[in-house]
Amino acid sequence: MPQPFPDFPAGFLWGAASAAYQVEGAVDEDGRGRSVWDTFTAQPDRVVGGATGAVATDHYHRYREDVALLRDLGVGAYRFSIAWPRIVPDGKGPVNAKGLDFYDRLVDELCAADIAPAATLFHWDTPQPLEDDGGWISRDIVHHFADYATAVGERLGDRVRMWMPLNEPVVVTMFGYALGNHAPGRALGFEALPAVHHQLLGHGLATQALRAAGCSTIGIASNHGPVWPASDADADMTAAETYTTLVNWLFSDPLLRGRYPVDELAEAMPGPVDEDLEVISTPLDFFGINYYQPTVVGAASATDGPAPVVEGALLPPGLPFEPRPVVGYQTTDFGWPVAPEGLRETVSMFADRYGEDLPPIYITESGCSYHDPDPVDGHVPDQARIDYHDSHLRALAEAIADGIDVRGYFAWSITDNFEWAAGYAERFGLVHIDYATQRRTPKDSYYWFQEMIGKQAG
Ligand code: FCB
Repeated sequence: MPQPFPDFPAGFLWGAASAAYQVEGAVDEDGRGRSVWDTFTAQPDRVVGGATGAVATDHYHRYREDVALLRDLGVGAYRFSIAWPRIVPDGKGPVNAKGLDFYDRLVDELCAADIAPAATLFHWDTPQPLEDDGGWISRDIVHHFADYATAVGERLGDRVRMWMPLNEPVVVTMFGYALGNHAPGRALGFEALPAVHHQLLGHGLATQALRAAGCSTIGIASNHGPVWPASDADADMTAAETYTTLVNWLFSDPLLRGRYPVDELAEAMPGPVDEDLEVISTPLDFFGINYYQPTVVGAASATDGPAPVVEGALLPPGLPFEPRPVVGYQTTDFGWPVAPEGLRETVSMFADRYGEDLPPIYITESGCSYHDPDPVDGHVPDQARIDYHDSHLRALAEAIADGIDVRGYFAWSITDNFEWAAGYAERFGLVHIDYATQRRTPKDSYYWFQEMIGKQAG
């Protein structure tokens, strides 16, 4: 008989996650400045349905209701992001007290509900004035980011229990600067590489700034997944190796080993790279992995046409390798393959590569989008989402049984929300949002999660 629920060690941290622009709304309130996502969503044809985060799930006003949902879910932690443009409206210069006040209220509400606040400092909402000066392509941003970290750390450091300066620098680089399908919408190809270096340097400086402000338990939330070669032919194996270097090790090697994975990449970076790497490799207390899916990559086909488009693959065209469909797996309604063994493989590949240099892992995001039906009598059946979390948690439990130090799992996301370029069409939440009324309805997966947490030994 299979166990009814995946089984985790005592003390394992259960959480749910969100991000400021995806949920808050209230973009013009209390002195918030503009971010690149305000600009991007105002441009035609950038986002499905012309959607914006101007209202989103109205979390800015309904955070008490959302914290009550988290409390009833039984999670030990809530991962949210702080909107940089609320705290420093121009990206540099004066701090906006009202912006800090909002997160102060949210953090107090969480503490009163016995939920550990876990704060991300940058979940993609670069202040527009900094983007106008080059954004993450320009080195100046790193010091402004550290100043912002200081302001937040000094105000919230006594109550926030986990800190993540960055969320998914790979996605900001690839989608935001290399391909242009996310804000700020620049299509620089390999000229986007400075954005890698500056995000990592900003991360190192912000980590130091947070520690100086008395904050502890600092890590990152970085997106990773295995890259599977399309076949065992040499050309496909090399293509997969190159791709995994670009999407995985390019980000984690500097943080965990203090170097870039290959010399060519180090040489492509701007500034005093060796000195910067010392800052970038400031020790972390944990390493947060966001896992969604594996990628299959093969050598480029011998045609002159563009690379095939594979949903969710982070790959620009015109390269000596290309994404291939991940066959043999079911897909979510977003088209992403559901491959729980990819999560186990991801944490094992980190454990193998970094050994003693790897701090404890948290899964800082994992989840799936299904186009759930509207609630009927307060009920939203979403068995596919239950199956997703159940299977991924079982895979993770196996990795822990193998001896890998994984300390927690944050479901993405507590509620449905603004899914970036996909707008509101994609629903990742454990709680359904009716965007016309802002009514929250817990889905079956919410109740499943609640029962699963309740059944854990800890
Ligand atoms: C991740 C993002 C998060 C959310 C999920 C579905 O890449 O960090 O904001 O959009 O994907």
